[in-house]
Amino acid sequence: MKKLVTFFLLVILLLEITISVDSQNPSLLKFVLQWPPTFCIILNSAAQPGRCKEPILQHNLTLHGVWPADQRGFSLTCPVPPDPNWNQVFTAAVENQLMAFWPPLRENAQRRDLWKHEWRAHGACGRTTPQVYFNTAIQINNMLQKGNLFNYLKTSGIIACDSLSFAKRDIVGAIQKVFAQLFDVYLTCIPIDATNRTHIYLSEVTLCTNLGGTSFISCPSQAAPTSCSSGARIMLPHPKPQPRALWSFHEEVNGRDIS
Ligand SMILES: *[C@@H]1O[C@H](CO)[C@@H](O)[C@H](O)[C@H]1NC(C)=O
Ligand SMILES: *[C@@H]1O[C@H](CO)[C@@H](O)[C@H](O)[C@H]1NC(C)=O
Repeated sequence: MKKLVTFFLLVILLLEITISVDSQNPSLLKFVLQWPPTFCIILNSAAQPGRCKEPILQHNLTLHGVWPADQRGFSLTCPVPPDPNWNQVFTAAVENQLMAFWPPLRENAQRRDLWKHEWRAHGACGRTTPQVYFNTAIQINNMLQKGNLFNYLKTSGIIACDSLSFAKRDIVGAIQKVFAQLFDVYLTCIPIDATNRTHIYLSEVTLCTNLGGTSFISCPSQAAPTSCSSGARIMLPHPKPQPRALWSFHEEVNGRDIS
């Protein structure tokens, strides 16, 4: 009996070691696309508000980043890597291709800022070189036969319109036309405002690929986000008017303080 208990304890211990080792290993990539108008709403209302470059894109989903994840789909974290020679990474050819689907959305952002940030915060955790990381992003984007993921939504009637809202399964169904099989994808949403419980805004769409970025796979259910799962109808917002630039906001606040 004692031997049996010891045996089972050993098995459990081994299992836990395997699981924890696996969960630190990159095992897939998340290709995370964002709906620019929703990104800008989030940015405008952040604790330290920022503004988007105008005009805000509304005919494309743009890439947020490519995030190496463990086998359950959770993004990996790792120490910030030393900077490579960025001029060698971003050749004119690479830069032109990245700009078409991975443009910086923030006002005043330099064209390479977002790419560098994504490499430091996520890309390096995949244990490749920056060259491989950005080429993989280009390669995954090229696997979208209709060019931009928004074209798949559009052809299913899913567009930005104040009078249209969609069920989550309709949006997922439209995206699944990218694949030859019914692979799972992740959607994230944000509330429209503090009171509305019936409608929400689409924020991001995540497609998953193998670690090499050569074929799509199903996004693992364990890390599936729940922000679009309330049963609320999902909308794609148009670009909203943005608050004025920060400096004028401060002036206004200061002015009010004095009076
Ligand atoms: C939209 O996406 C297509 C296909 O990826 C690209 O060719 C085009 O430049 C993009 N347009 C904008 C405004 O980013
Ligand atoms: C929630 O938002 C939708 C879409 O804008 C709108 O039609 C609906 O009236 C809103 N409901 C509430 C309670 O504000």
